[in-house]
Amino acid sequence: MAGLLSGSRLARFCFLASCIALAAHTSEASRRDLIGISIGKGGGISIGIGGGGGSSPPKQQPPSSEPQACDFENERIYRAYLVIQRFKRTITSDPQCITNTWTGTDVCGSYKGFFCEKPPNVNERALASVDFNGYKLQSASLVSFVDALPDLALFHANSNKFGGVVPNLRALQYFYELDLSNNNLAPCPFPTDVLGLTNSTFIDIRFNNFLGGLPAGLFCSFPIVEAIFVNNNKFDGKLPDNLGDSPVNYLSLANNQFTGPIPSSIARAANTLLEVLFLNNKLSGCLPYELGLLAKATVIDAGTNQLTGTIPASYACLRKVEQLNLANNLLYGVVPDALCRLAYDGHLTNLTLSGNYFTGLGACCWDLIKQGKLNVDRNCIPYAPNQRSHDECAGFFHRTKMTCPVSTHVPCYHKSYGVDAAAEEAKAAAEEAKYRTYSALKP
Ligand SMILES: *[C@@H]1O[C@H](CO)[C@@H](O)[C@H](O)[C@H]1NC(C)=O
Ligand SMILES: *[C@@H]1O[C@H](CO)[C@@H](O)[C@H](O)[C@H]1NC(C)=O
Repeated sequence: MAGLLSGSRLARFCFLASCIALAAHTSEASRRDLIGISIGKGGGISIGIGGGGGSSPPKQQPPSSEPQACDFENERIYRAYLVIQRFKRTITSDPQCITNTWTGTDVCGSYKGFFCEKPPNVNERALASVDFNGYKLQSASLVSFVDALPDLALFHANSNKFGGVVPNLRALQYFYELDLSNNNLAPCPFPTDVLGLTNSTFIDIRFNNFLGGLPAGLFCSFPIVEAIFVNNNKFDGKLPDNLGDSPVNYLSLANNQFTGPIPSSIARAANTLLEVLFLNNKLSGCLPYELGLLAKATVIDAGTNQLTGTIPASYACLRKVEQLNLANNLLYGVVPDALCRLAYDGHLTNLTLSGNYFTGLGACCWDLIKQGKLNVDRNCIPYAPNQRSHDECAGFFHRTKMTCPVSTHVPCYHKSYGVDAAAEEAKAAAEEAKYRTYSALKP
């Protein structure tokens, strides 16, 4: 047993060591490359000053077919051009022939995936965003590409085959949107350099092979972040206690291997969190009272975990919730009537509680089953459809120590909606397709 443990620790250590080596190697390469650029630039300038006198043999002059610095809109674009050309040589697969457009001097106009804009307080255009979404480009590394474009604000690379480590983007002063989702990035811990991108609004590293715990910094380093998507990786360990300190609106932690409880700090996100997915992890402990305080949330999904306890009465305060999924956990007790009422005086359209051990339903809940808004399959509820067997239920109640607090406190003022309720419902239904976190569950 001990041998097994230390074996797996060793394997993990080697993994980490190789990630660090990979990072060190690539940053060495990027330093060299940066020097390369400045030599090129110096050469370009000295040639310019020479005014075509041709007195000294132009050693560093590029072949004449190569465009010169003065052929470009400005020096920034020329430097970006050099970086793009170097990156182009590292592309090993390009099924859509994107890189065929990466030639000539019109970087801002004709290069697919590249967009120019004036950075704040700068009077000329610069390469401001790169959007490779869906291009299926393959390269062993993004290092000395993204990090070598100093004016970049956005990098979107969903569904490509970029490998290696996440480049260190700390020097990119305008940067605020990082999307590396669905790539082949090396199986490494959370790239902590990303925490330096303090102006970020969008952090998306879903569908990769990241492993280990999430750093607490993820929830305190980004004062204006709107979306954090880390779903479909191999993250594990406890969720950081400060999770609720983040002002994030859309948070997806789904399809990892997180353990431990949902942090009670989530109460502090009550005014900002709009959608949160804990779906399909190994979270345990009591279903927290504090989730019921998320007064602005439209989506709360903690399905397929090992959460236990009863549904706290505070959940009747989820005035905005449309999708509430607690399926496939170890929940028990009676489903509160006030929760089901949210389908009438709130916005609830889908309450999924299947695969638990509930034993009763509030009066209102029965109608929701008929309307297809409530699923209580595979529970222990007498007279409800598709329930667990008597033995299965008895076994659970025999095994389970029901030690979670039974919270009956309703921490909100319960006002009924007037005539506007129906209109709001219709609007909510029309917007159903736009759940951002659920969309993030597809690559
Ligand atoms: C964030 O933005 C502010 C204001 O534009 C800027 O002063 C600061 O340097 C930026 N931070 C980083 C890490 O780039
Ligand atoms: C309701 O939510 C469950 C769990 O998220 C999902 O599987 C199901 O498709 C949803 N039903 C509808 C009608 O949206």
